[in-house]
Amino acid sequence: MTEEHEAPHGATVLVTGATGDIGRAVVADLLAHGYRVVGADLRAPDAETGCAAFAAGNLADAGTVSGVYDTLQATAGDSPVAGVVHLAAYPAPGIVSEDETLRSNVLAAYLVLQEAGRRGIPRVVAASSLSAVGLAWADRDLHPVYVPVDEEHPNLTVDSYGLSKVMSEEAAAFTTRRFGTETVMLRFPFVGMGERLKTRLASTHEDAGRARRELWGWLHTEDAAASVRAALTAPLTGHHVVNVAAPDTEALEPSRELLAVYHPDAEIRDGFGGHDSLFATARMRDVLGFTPRHTWR
Ligand SMILES: NC(=O)c1ccc[n+]([C@@H]2O[C@H](COP(=O)([O-])OP(=O)(O)OC[C@H]3O[C@@H](n4cnc5c(N)ncnc54)[C@H](O)[C@@H]3O)[C@@H](O)[C@H]2O)c1
Repeated sequence: MTEEHEAPHGATVLVTGATGDIGRAVVADLLAHGYRVVGADLRAPDAETGCAAFAAGNLADAGTVSGVYDTLQATAGDSPVAGVVHLAAYPAPGIVSEDETLRSNVLAAYLVLQEAGRRGIPRVVAASSLSAVGLAWADRDLHPVYVPVDEEHPNLTVDSYGLSKVMSEEAAAFTTRRFGTETVMLRFPFVGMGERLKTRLASTHEDAGRARRELWGWLHTEDAAASVRAALTAPLTGHHVVNVAAPDTEALEPSRELLAVYHPDAEIRDGFGGHDSLFATARMRDVLGFTPRHTWR
């Protein structure tokens, strides 16, 4: 990343979902790189975050969202608002009902994006998910049409969480058309570090079949945070959907072996081998100029 893509020192960023796993890492990463951060979440943080301001409330409510942006603009004062990072969502099915997962995730994304557009904030970076492809939370075994799965892969969703991410991506494209806001939707795989990552790797190493629906994708939480910062500063315009995943799988078995057992009919494209990720990440490198740094191997 060259100097001209660095944030103006002291620029302010709104981070929604700031109390969550990825949100806490994003806040810490932005603060470490000279940003001021305004946090927002349903839940107030239980420890000091370093945020210049924190707004607790439900972002699936228009009045709350408007209040959060008032707090953002009051906190920024005369300094620039670099952008909004929207992470607030129920990150899986089953936390609340199917209907509420869809309603809350989509409405919060729509409202946060629209308000950024209306207020002339230049860029919104938001967490989508590789679940938007449809395999991860399906109530049946689905298979990729081809691998590596890129951002143009057909939508196979049959679950409301995956649909909430597809619809959030649509809300971002809509915001770009409507207001000219730059929008970057990051499609994350399983994201973890520490105990969460250890437990996940142990489970997959015991039985690779357990992660067949997630196609063995993974990303270290600190890399997720760094990718968010890259998406805030990358020289881009318009709307982008970008896969962000580690270059390898979380599995011990080579990727072609996994495919032969669990997804034998998937077309295998170009030079694919070793423990290569089943997700294509050319756009991550080309559009964001980003490469993950962490490996578990
Ligand atoms: N963790 C993963 O493996 C993973 C993978 C792919 C995508 N994602 C996406 O990344 C984002 C962050 O996930 P996470 O793992 O940090 O989840 P998390 O549950 O730890 O954090 C999400 C935060 O959003 C808040 N939130 C939820 N709905 C809200 C609402 N309506 N208004 C205000 N706050 C609300 C929650 O209180 C929570 O603190 C989510 O959008 C999730 O879908 C996560």
